Amino acid sequence: MSANQPNIVLFQCQWCLYAKTDQDWVENSLPENMHLVKTSCTGRINPLFVLNAIQGGAEGVMISGCKPEICHFKEGNIGARRQLSAFQKLLTHIGFDRSRIRFVWMDLQDTGRIQKELATFEKDLVDLGQSAVLVTRKPGFEGGMHD
Ligand code: FES
Repeated sequence: MSANQPNIVLFQCQWCLYAKTDQDWVENSLPENMHLVKTSCTGRINPLFVLNAIQGGAEGVMISGCKPEICHFKEGNIGARRQLSAFQKLLTHIGFDRSRIRFVWMDLQDTGRIQKELATFEKDLVDLGQSAVLVTRKPGFEGGMHD
């Protein structure tokens, strides 16, 4: 990827995009530098998954979930937010800018928002510049995130 196309991993709760057009877009039409990981709830995202993405070359990680009051697993997203926020602090401590991890909570009326959020995030990452501080293996997501 070029400096203007930072690798972004999108962890997306499978329930949070209410419009079929948005879900189809993230599944089939994400730009080449963006990589989707669908989850059953943001509460299922282990911080080590995020670390794995960063070690594989992600310059930004977006976590897209349901609004707190409409999480299908009651408070899964609140727990995820709490856990991942603490993890963000750890990453910051070791040199990974916390703004490279972004949470987005979606609601029923948010059709078309995911595209805008990703575009804004990508621009913000370009402004931040490259971050290879935690990369431990050759960047690249072809064939998935796993070695
Ligand atoms: Fe969507 Fe929990 S079900 S964040």
